[in-house]
Amino acid sequence: MKTLIIYISIHHSNTEKIAEAMAEILDAKLINPREVDIDSLSEYDLIGFGSGIYFGKHHKSLFKLADKLPVFKGKKSFIFSTSGVSNWQNIINNTLNRTLHFHNPLKKELLKKGFNIIGKFDCRGWDTVGPFELIGGINKGSPDEKDFKEAENFARVLKDRLKVL
Ligand SMILES: Cc1cc2nc3c(=O)[nH]c(=O)nc-3n(C[C@H](O)[C@H](O)[C@H](O)COP(=O)(O)O)c2cc1C
Repeated sequence: MKTLIIYISIHHSNTEKIAEAMAEILDAKLINPREVDIDSLSEYDLIGFGSGIYFGKHHKSLFKLADKLPVFKGKKSFIFSTSGVSNWQNIINNTLNRTLHFHNPLKKELLKKGFNIIGKFDCRGWDTVGPFELIGGINKGSPDEKDFKEAENFARVLKDRLKVL
C-alpha cells in the first residue's frame, strides 16, 4: 500500500506532528502541497490532505492544489486538521463559510475531483493567534501524547479500511 500525506503546517508545526505520527503507521511519504507532482499521484493507493484550520478552513495551498487536480475516480483519501477550537466553537467562521464543518470546504473540492474520502481526523493545536497571544495561547502542549495515539489509531483504521474497500 502506497500512501502520500500532503500537508502544510504554518503556525506551530501542530499539524506536522500529527502528519508524522500518521506517516509512521502508514509508512507514508510526506509532502508540502506546493511541491506535489500531480502526475505522480496516480501511483498512490491512499492520499491524505491536512493542515491547520485558518479562518475556518484548511490552508489555501490545499485548495489551490485541489483546483489543479484532474478527476481521480474513486481514489481513496482522508482529511485531517488541527485547530484552535473545536468545530462547534468555529460557529462564526462556519456560518461565514456557509458550512457545518470546517473540513467541508476542502471535502467539497476533493469530492468534485472524484476522491473517495474514507476517513477524517481532527484535534486541537496550540493557538497563539490574535488575543490568545496575550495569555500564551490556548492548548499549549497540544497536540499531546493522547492526540498522537489517536492519530496513530486513526491511521491503523485507515489501513484496515483499505483492505476491505
Ligand atoms: C491565521 C490563523 C487563523 C486561524 N484561524 C482559526 C480558526 O478559524 N479556527 C480555529 O479553530 N483555529 C484557528 N487558528 C488556530 C490554528 O488552527 C491552530 O493553531 C492549528 O493547530 C495550527 O496548525 P499548524 O501549527 O499546523 O499551522 C488559526 C491560526 C492562524 C495562525
